[in-house]
Amino acid sequence: PRKLILDVDTGTDDAVAIMLAALHPELELVGVTTVNGNVPVEHCTDNSLRTLDHIGRGDIPVYEGLQRPIVRRDFPVPRAIKKDVKVHMDELPIPPARSRKQRMSAPEYLVSAFAEARGELTLVAVGPLSNLAAAIAIDPNFVRNVPELVIMGGAVDKSNITPAAEFNIWADPEAARVVMEAGFERIVLVPLDATHRALVSLEQTRAMRDLGTPAGTAAASIIDYRINGYQTNQPTGIPETAPVHDALCIAYLVQPDVITTRHVNCVIETLGEYTVGRTVVDHEFRTKRAPNCHVAFDADRQAFVTLMTETFGRPHTS
Ligand code: BDR
Ligand code: CA
Repeated sequence: PRKLILDVDTGTDDAVAIMLAALHPELELVGVTTVNGNVPVEHCTDNSLRTLDHIGRGDIPVYEGLQRPIVRRDFPVPRAIKKDVKVHMDELPIPPARSRKQRMSAPEYLVSAFAEARGELTLVAVGPLSNLAAAIAIDPNFVRNVPELVIMGGAVDKSNITPAAEFNIWADPEAARVVMEAGFERIVLVPLDATHRALVSLEQTRAMRDLGTPAGTAAASIIDYRINGYQTNQPTGIPETAPVHDALCIAYLVQPDVITTRHVNCVIETLGEYTVGRTVVDHEFRTKRAPNCHVAFDADRQAFVTLMTETFGRPHTS
């Protein structure tokens, strides 16, 4: 199986990504790291532990990471505008965690795990990039030890937190800039443009619930919760659907053609008065800046849902 570490800010879609990574037979989720994002980091940690326990994968270690962005004291606009209600596991049928987090911090774990893995480990980051920037600061060899980095973040034609930005990049723009400029061998960036091509519908979550497995039931409740939120706050254009951003990055690992990418240059805006956190993607080649990431512009909605449904329907054995 393909080994990965997943950096999360769990988070409803993060929880679905965790389940997909932990249960897919061709993947080996060796560790989960958490970061301040959707909710304060201690809640991200607790939500991640709960998710893993719920599917019988409490054996997968969880490491807690940064509680704030690397440079700023807080998000560009303080947290109040990002409502915690978005990720209340208490409203979902997922019991409290039995497992505990590890002692080591997330950036230290990332540094040591990638140093030991010798190129056999993939990093998937689906929250703000603070832990990655910290790992880069700790170890000059970290970047070289990561053969592929998959990031859920950014937007080209869309946005979800300001008119210019997507949440994960906006939440720690300096960290995103450090990561983008660090020289990783291969970055795959999965922005909102792609995740909104992979919408999941109420009809499809009914099929997940009917699987009768812990993951099927949890995924259905979580995605229904998301669909409800999108209906009210930011309609997707297709009734009764929602994106499940973070899980699309995991689907890509086992089925690369679930997304369609283009190799282009992307830089991060950290200074703009109205545009902090914008991913400036040069997809029309207006500059001579060299391509530095594979940006997903499209996704195969049906393939994504089928992959999740099949995975969540498998008996959960650890
Ligand atoms: C991203 O931000 C978080 O709210 C989600 O978990 C996802 O990773 C979407 O913009
Ligand atoms: Ca996330």
